[in-house]
Order: sequence, then structure tokens, then C-alpha cells
Amino acid sequence: MSPREKFPGLSYAGKVAFITGGGSGIGQETALTLADLGADVAILDWTSGAAAETAKQVKRLGRKAIALDGDAGDEKTVVEAFAATRAQLGEIDVAVACAGVLGTGGPVFETSVADFEQVMGVNVRGSFLVVREAAKTMRKRKQGAIVLLSSLDGLQAEHGMFSYCVSKGALLNLARAAALDLARDRVTVNCVCPSVTYTPLLAGRLATLPNGDEVLASYADRHPLGRVLTPRDIASAIAFVASPIANGITGAAIPVDAGIGATWDNFRTPSWIKNDP
Ligand SMILES: NC(=O)c1ccc[n+]([C@@H]2O[C@H](COP(=O)([O-])OP(=O)(O)OC[C@H]3O[C@@H](n4cnc5c(N)ncnc54)[C@H](O)[C@@H]3O)[C@@H](O)[C@H]2O)c1
Repeated sequence: MSPREKFPGLSYAGKVAFITGGGSGIGQETALTLADLGADVAILDWTSGAAAETAKQVKRLGRKAIALDGDAGDEKTVVEAFAATRAQLGEIDVAVACAGVLGTGGPVFETSVADFEQVMGVNVRGSFLVVREAAKTMRKRKQGAIVLLSSLDGLQAEHGMFSYCVSKGALLNLARAAALDLARDRVTVNCVCPSVTYTPLLAGRLATLPNGDEVLASYADRHPLGRVLTPRDIASAIAFVASPIANGITGAAIPVDAGIGATWDNFRTPSWIKNDP
């Protein structure tokens, strides 16, 4: 056995991260968290000005950043974004596929081929492209970490969200298959699976409902921790699993779910249990 080394802690000093969908919500908080920890960051986003805004915030933290505009589901865009990142920031240590869309929603019997293909194109093809492009140089360097954003909707299904659930489920096996292909090159591939997280994506969905506030409160109530997740909760898990201290974890699906996966039905505190300490 080699002599014990002091626990290094969580640091991204000298590292470069590439994040799709980094212009909002979980992706933006991930960019800022990795920058807090010392990383330079490239952000690819298709919403006009979104990547630039995150890049501005990363630079305010004293790190380098580049903003790239384009569709994370498009092969040429992703190939060029990786090349631009390598040219401007250096070799990529961490790649996070965060760009994701819900699609129009709806049950299987009402799902159009166009909706199915759009959701699969961004969520699954976009993640595949991140893994493939990141792997090209990570393999040669024998190091690197790739994180995909699945969902609780990938571990279980939500009714009326057919295309999204299919896409998020596919990411679990995409991560496992890629993890095996890259394992001997010491490159890890993992999924983080958030439950309901308060981001612009969720806020936008709630805004379409007449009783959005009530729905949000009921989401919070159904989670054993009594709250929905924050972008910080999810970014923390990403920062951990993509860091060298987690390099024994690959092919995993990590729930960040405020305890909802621990319960067999919608959690309610029984009336006979007092919450007061
Ligand atoms: N918010 C939740 O409750 C929740 C729960 C589970 C999983 N997720 C997943 O986490 C990821 C981030 O979600 P969020 O809530 O932060 O969403 P968000 O809408 O706040 O942010 C997503 C960002 O991705 C960008 N984007 C979407 N499609 C893109 C594309 N094709 N090309 C480039 N950029 C694109 C958007 O412009 C946006 O800036 C998604 O994959 C989502 O499915 C979210």
C-alpha cells in the first residue's frame, strides 16, 4: 500500500470546464460553482446573450470564460465549440451536458414525431456529442470527467411527459455504455438526476398554469426534505462527481432528489408525527 496522502479537498484550480446549456438555471450555477473552485469555463447556449451573461459572471469571479452561441444538439456546432474551447482555454478536463428541453409535453398517444425528435435531438444526441467530443482528447490524456443531466424522470417516469421521460431514461444507459468504453482511459462518465429544481425552466412551466404557486408548494410538500431543489444543490453534486476526489465513481446515476426516491408513494408527514424537535 502506498503511504496515505492528505485529503485534497474540492479544487478545480488549473482546470478547464465545458458546459452546454450554461446560460441559465443548473448549467449557469454549475459554471459559477466550478469557477468559484478555480476552473476556467466555456459555455455553449442557444438563447441569445445567455452564454455571454454567464461568461461575464465567471470573469467577475476572476476566471477566464468564453461564450459560444449555438444548438447543443447539432454536430457541427458541438465539434466547433470543443475546438474553440481548446484553442482559447486549453485542454478540457470536465464536460457537462446540461442543455435540455421539455418539449411540448403530453402522453404517448398524443406525442408527435416532431416533438419526440426535438427532445431526443437536444437531450440525447446533444449529450452523446458532448461525450464523443470530450472523449477524443480526454482518452489521450488519460484523465477527464463527463457529467450528463438526467432527471428523476430518467429513474422513474412522470405521466404526461412521454418524450422527456424517454430521453432522460436513455441518458442513464448512455452514461453506462460510455463509462465502460472510456474506463481504461481513466475518463469517468456519470449522470446526475435532479428532482424538481427551481430554475427558469420550471418557472416557465409553472407560469403556464393558473395555479402555479399551489403546484410549486405541493411539489415542495411531496419531497421528504419539505422543499424543491435549488440550482446550487445540483451544481454541488456535479462539482463533486466531476472532481478528482470522485474518480472512483463511473457509470453511476446520482439522485439529487430531496429524499423523494426513498419513499414508495407521495411523501406526507403523518399527522401523528410532530415536526418540532
Ligand atoms: N429544473 C428541473 O426541475 C430539472 C429537473 C431534472 C433535470 N433537469 C435537467 O437539467 C438541465 C438544466 O435544466 P434547467 O432547469 O437549468 O433549465 P433552464 O431552461 O433554466 O436552462 C437550460 C439552458 O439550456 C439551454 N438550451 C436548451 N436547449 C439547448 C440547445 N439545444 N442548445 C443550446 N442550449 C440549449 C437554454 O437556452 C437554457 O439556457 C436540463 O437538462 C433539464 O432537463 C432539470
